[in-house]
Amino acid sequence: MRKDLLGLEGLSREEIEEILDTAAVMREHLDKGEINLDYAKGVSVVNLFYENSTRTRTSFENAAKFLGANQVNIAVGNSSVAKGESIYDTVKTLESIKNGIVVIRHNMAGAPQYVAKKVNARVINAGDGQHEHPTQALLDMLTMKRHFGKIEGLTVAIIGDIKYSRVARSNIFGLLKMGAKVKLFGIKTLMPKGIEEMGAIVCDSIEQAISGSDVVMGLRIQLERQTSGQFPTVKEYFNEYGITMERMKLANKNAIIMHPAPVNRGVEISGEAVDCEQSRIFDQVTNGLAVRMAIIKLMAEEK
Ligand code: CP
Repeated sequence: MRKDLLGLEGLSREEIEEILDTAAVMREHLDKGEINLDYAKGVSVVNLFYENSTRTRTSFENAAKFLGANQVNIAVGNSSVAKGESIYDTVKTLESIKNGIVVIRHNMAGAPQYVAKKVNARVINAGDGQHEHPTQALLDMLTMKRHFGKIEGLTVAIIGDIKYSRVARSNIFGLLKMGAKVKLFGIKTLMPKGIEEMGAIVCDSIEQAISGSDVVMGLRIQLERQTSGQFPTVKEYFNEYGITMERMKLANKNAIIMHPAPVNRGVEISGEAVDCEQSRIFDQVTNGLAVRMAIIKLMAEEK
């Protein structure tokens, strides 16, 4: 395990496999109710989230606690960040009070990478702007591996707001390295120019994206990152671009529905599709805990 986990663009297939294999073992612990482990005893992990989060922040918190680590949460609004302290000074301070691992979510792409170069503490990127969300893509791949027994050869359709999605970018990097085929679809205003250069196939319709796919992954419309005029009404969007049970009939037999969440039911996906048997959306959340435990364990082994 290298010092930091900043993105999947820079990781090799072997490094991804090491994390997924360790996460599979962590998932077995969780399924047996084993949450008093000591793989990270003596390590202190701090969450520094400049953006909202439910899943990522809480699962990093539980992951550290379940592994026997010390765990701290910084409420950025109540910290000295509100007095103008820079991210570098904040992380250097957290390192000085003996936190060995700093988990950072920031609305600015590149913020965790910038800090990681300047501190000795290990930095984990929990999502930076529209750049990368590596632990999300790792948990997505763990979910696929657990369902299909492999990632190589799968066809994964990613549908929705591709332009503003760090989840899409990390998944494209990771899935292509692992030998999957990635298809993308979204309304033209939310499809970045040149995205096919990453190696994914851009589809012309939602039907084309879902047809022949093993995994159908919906993405939330990230209104908080958009300028005006990029999105029709919610009703029009759902009718034209929403993932529905009817449209899922085009997918391969045994196909699964995924979504990083938070989900907006009736916008990018129907409520029925969220709750159906094919859905792995809540299983993804548990796998997120397992992946974050794996990363902290691997880092703790090399402290
Ligand atoms: N998928 C995800 O990152 O969710 P949160 O924003 O709740 O952490």
